[in-house]
Formats: sequence, structure tokens, C-alpha cells
Amino acid sequence: MNATGSNETPYSGADPKLPTQPQPKIQAKLWGGRFAEGTDALVEAFTESVSFDQRLWRQDIAGSTAHARMLANVGVLSAADADAIVAGLAAIHGEIESGKFEWQQTLEDVHMNIEAALTARIGEAGKRLHTGRSRNDQVATDLRLYVRDAIDELADVIAALADALLDLAERETETIMPGFTHLQIAQPVSFGHHMLAWREQILRDRARFIDARKRANVLPLGSAALAGTVYPLDRHFVAQQLGFDAVSENSLDAVSDRDFAIEFVSACALLMVHLSRWSEELILWSSPMFGFVKLPDRFCTGSSIMPQKKNPDVPELVRGKSGRVIGDLNALLVLMKGQPLAYNRDNQEDKLPLFDAHDTANACLRVLAAMLPSIEVQRATCRAAAAKGFSTATDLADYLVRKGLPFRDAHHACGSAVAYAVEKQLDLAELSLDELQRFSPLITADIFEHITLEASLAARQTYGGTAPAQVRAAIARARAAEPDVSR
Ligand code: ARG
Repeated sequence: MNATGSNETPYSGADPKLPTQPQPKIQAKLWGGRFAEGTDALVEAFTESVSFDQRLWRQDIAGSTAHARMLANVGVLSAADADAIVAGLAAIHGEIESGKFEWQQTLEDVHMNIEAALTARIGEAGKRLHTGRSRNDQVATDLRLYVRDAIDELADVIAALADALLDLAERETETIMPGFTHLQIAQPVSFGHHMLAWREQILRDRARFIDARKRANVLPLGSAALAGTVYPLDRHFVAQQLGFDAVSENSLDAVSDRDFAIEFVSACALLMVHLSRWSEELILWSSPMFGFVKLPDRFCTGSSIMPQKKNPDVPELVRGKSGRVIGDLNALLVLMKGQPLAYNRDNQEDKLPLFDAHDTANACLRVLAAMLPSIEVQRATCRAAAAKGFSTATDLADYLVRKGLPFRDAHHACGSAVAYAVEKQLDLAELSLDELQRFSPLITADIFEHITLEASLAARQTYGGTAPAQVRAAIARARAAEPDVSR
């Protein structure tokens, strides 16, 4: 069961965008009492949010159901009215789910669409539902429920992706590739070690989501428009019904701040930055210039003009979509920054960036989790690349240090050897012992055992280092901790 009390997966796809009905020029509004004329059609179209906030329908019905039950508990509503409301909302739930519900633009938003449908269905009692409540605390509640569900969903998808990386790391523990700094070949590393680096990034992202959930999981309902309400609401009961950890402390704050959404989208943006970095690597690695990996054909596309092309569209789009999510974060930050307390209509604009960040992060995680297990690591190419670029020069210096030379002198001697090898167009290991000894008399025949790729890797035995034994230990630790990771 998810937080909003239904069994099916929430948000497994966009809700059908139902066409809005042709609207009469003047229609009675739920708030129309003090108005002498109907809303201008331009304004109606400009101010409506139902075209996008209908996505909050599950949360809205869950919130209204809890509110109605509470109103009956505290004696504001009769038990019969509350029962009618709860049953009516359940029927509307079914209608929306089956795509039969008719959303009306004139009713502005998801909240008034559902309330109007309820009254149409059950009469008088439906008009009592909004007692002690405002759309301001209602929408803040819906959004917090939404963010909470989105976090739970993304946390699971990230855990699945982290597991895929762990499997890949295990498969490629012994695969040697060049490690880079400045995108120059630096030192050989295990391909599996590189996958575990990616995994660390998204596990921190996951932890950020879970941390943000704590602050999102606080109930605003009961704050009413901004000041609280005259009815003896039992906010703690509503919180408990909806699975909130606490009730908000201050009504002005609760209806107006969207920092919980900003935190969520911020975590999405940072996650996307990580996925974008991986994507950049996959794009480079799958280019024939590197040739480190082959992406599965079913995750690539061709060119309409160049028959030889196989393009890495999936990682390119993930890299591109990271820009969207960073934009979503920026939109929310700027949306918030000029707002005086308490609620302002500006906040209606929070939804599209929030939904977009959620959908984009979700889609990127899922497509990468599906693709990664089928990437073919070109082990020979990776190894050959690692053998280029003097990637074991540090090992020569470390060898001299072990023979007693201070590291700075060893570094210098080794640098001269590299310069000589560059001149000769040879790798260090291809120089003769005679040649090597020109740079330090401490070099003896055993040097060749120390400057192989395997020896270089195996020597990096520090905790968290790239020696295959360390990579295997890291995988074992990750597997032992896994129940914790997958919640
Ligand atoms: N559609 C509005 C939103 O998304 C709901 C709250 C409207 N409140 C109001 N006082 N107009 O924020």
C-alpha cells in the first residue's frame, strides 16, 4: 500500500490529460459569492491549474477523507455526513482511476474539481467537507504527500540501480582500465572499482532523499488559510491517518513555504548531475576513439544519413535532461524568493517543476538500470589503453622509494625516464634494464615485476583502493549492508 491508501503503483505514468470541456462564459464559482461578474475566459485559462495539478488527485482524496473523518470525531460533522463524504470520495477515486472523471477548467484546480464532484454526487454533505480548511493548507498537504511518495519511489529505483552497479563491479573486478585525472591517463584502475565509485554517488543521493523526507513528512492541514481555524480540529488524528510524523508548528509557515519541494528537487538535480557525469563517460567510452564499452544495440539508434553510425542516445539524453532538472530547481528557488508570508498564488507554479524533476529523474534512473547490465566491457581495449600513457610511472617512483630514495628524488628520476621513453616512443616497461639504470643505479632486474599493470593495481591495497582484493572486499561489505540499502 502506498501512502495515499491505494494498492496500485502511484504515478506509473502520466494521468490521462483529459480535454477540458467547452466552458460557458459565466459560471458560478465555489467562491463566487462576492463577485458581480464571471471570470474572463482569458483569466480562466491563465489561472487554471487542473490541467496539471489533477495529478494530485490521490493525495487530495486521501487528505479530504482524513479531514472528514476527523471533523466527525470532533463533532463538527455528523457521522452520517462523514460517511457520505468518505463513500463519495471513494467513488470519485474509482471514477478518476478508470478515466471516467470529467475535469473542468472552470473549476480551476484539482481540489475544487473533486469537491464539486462530491457535492454533485452526495448533495448537502459535500458542501460541509471544506469546514475548517482552506485550499492553502489543502494543497500544501497534497504536495507533501506527493513528495513523500515520490521519495519512496525514487529511493527504490536508486537501490535497484545501485544493485546493478554492484553486479557489474563484481563481473569486472579484474578488468584493468586507465584511471584518469584531467582526462589524461593517470594510473591503472579496476573497471569494477570505477563502477563502485558511481554507486557511492547515488547512494549519497538516496540518503539525501531519505533525509529530505523527514522534513517533508509534517502535516500542514489545520493551518487553514493562514491563521488556523475556529473549529476544534484534531490535527494529530489527521496526521496519524495520513502517516505524517508530526503536525506543523506554525500556520503561516505551513501554508506558504515550499522548501520541502525545493529540497526534493535539489536532491533530484544533484542526482542528475551524477547521472550526467556517468553518461559523459559512457559516451566517451563507447566512441571508437576509446572503445572501452559496447552499448547494447537496443539502447542505441542509427543515423538517417550515415549508415555506419550507432549513437549513444540514451546517455546523451540523460546528460541533456540533467539541464532540465537543474532548471526545475532554479525555477522553484526563484519562485520562492520574493514571497511575503503567507500563501501567494505564485505557489501554484511549483507543481510543473516538481513533477518534471520527479519524472525526469525517475525515467533516467530506470533506463540506466535497464541498460547497464548489458553493456559489454571491451576488456582487451581497456587493458591496452591502461598500458599506454606511462600509467605505472608512479609505481617506478614508489619502487625507488622502497629502495631508500626520497620520494621527490624518485619522482624526478622517474620523470626523466618517462621523458626518455617518450622520445624513444616506448613504454617504460619496454625500456631495457640498462636504459632504466641510467636514471637511477637503484634500479635492478626486479623492476619489471613492479611496473606491470597487474602489479600496479594489486599494490593499491589501502581501504577503498583499487586493488582487486580491495574491490572484492568493498563488494562484500556492500552485499552485507544491502538490506539497509533497499529499505
Ligand atoms: N491551485 C492552487 C495552488 O496550486 C490552490 C490554492 C489556491 N488558494 C487560493 N487561495 N487561491 O496553489
